[in-house]
Amino acid sequence: MKILSIESSCDETAAAVIEDGRKIISSVVATQVDEHKLYGGVVPEIASRRHCESINGVVFEALERADTDLSNIDALAVTYAPGLIGALLVGVNFAKGLSLATGLPLIPVHHLRAHIAANYLAHDGLEPPFLCLVVSGGHSHIVEVKSYTEMKVIGRTRDDAAGEAFDKAARTMGMPYPGGIHLDKAAEFGNEQRYILPQPKVSGAEFDFSFSGLKTAVINLIHNANQKGEEINKNDLCASFRKAVVDSLINNFIGAAEKLGYDKLVLAGGVSANSLLRRRALEEAEKRGWVCCYPPIELCGDNAAMVGAQAYYEYMAGNTADMTLNAAATKNIELSFDKT
Ligand code: KG4
Ligand code: ZN
Repeated sequence: MKILSIESSCDETAAAVIEDGRKIISSVVATQVDEHKLYGGVVPEIASRRHCESINGVVFEALERADTDLSNIDALAVTYAPGLIGALLVGVNFAKGLSLATGLPLIPVHHLRAHIAANYLAHDGLEPPFLCLVVSGGHSHIVEVKSYTEMKVIGRTRDDAAGEAFDKAARTMGMPYPGGIHLDKAAEFGNEQRYILPQPKVSGAEFDFSFSGLKTAVINLIHNANQKGEEINKNDLCASFRKAVVDSLINNFIGAAEKLGYDKLVLAGGVSANSLLRRRALEEAEKRGWVCCYPPIELCGDNAAMVGAQAYYEYMAGNTADMTLNAAATKNIELSFDKT
């Protein structure tokens, strides 16, 4: 089954052709990052406009690279939630138009479920159930993936998402948006023991995260040093910050796996590109004789290939939409698409 999939939830306009949820025939990503960089973060209004301009070209480029056309496509898929509402609406309306014109089934896909599905494209034998750490710019969840379309959230962030914390800390240190990747690179050259940062914990919710205190600690540390005329070693601060975030993610993730009896761990989302997170998750899993996997770097960030992967399983579960489909800025990952 060939699915043409579309993604426009944030600042990437993307389209892909995916076969049977597992094979990438083509994948095109047009990023707007250089423009948003000028403002230090995503400007929703600009994002919507750029999606409008790019979507037609991106979708037809994906068909062309797959050496096919709409007559050889079996279904259409689109990210409908969560994300920036104006950005999501561009993809949703484009997909609805294509569905109306061709009569092809329309499959709505949850963005975080798609991030998890990026792993199906890279790991042939991977099947639920498993425990997944989904860490992106907007979300940090520990999710029990019971089947391809049944999920239970057992830990979540109470404030900033992990990616957001990385980006804010990086920005404080003068790095361009999105700072997570720059902070990660600098951290590779730093001493992670140099600066003592708080170890965030949420009382009464053992698997929940909180990252906003960490971000404040970094800002205060930099301001205090400036006032005293002291030099901050940027690489060391990046390494110390990255260690604090990754320790918190890994402690809760491994603790949850132990408590719930999972021996298969999966990472997903933009932050799963983080080199320390990947190393630590692998190490902790190997120590216990568990399996651990994560997507290749090019599938960690936003793309449409992952949307086409998840769409296949949503289709198999009967989760399709009609012309009443609307975008939603927020949507619980546990809830499958509701036809009513
Ligand atoms: O999943 P994603 O592409 O978009 C959302 O759905 O939010 O995630 C983007 C986030 C950004 O905050 C970005 O800084 C972060 O992922 N990120 C990283 C790394 N690469 C991307 N964070 C830490 N280390 C990285 N290597
Ligand atoms: Zn994303």
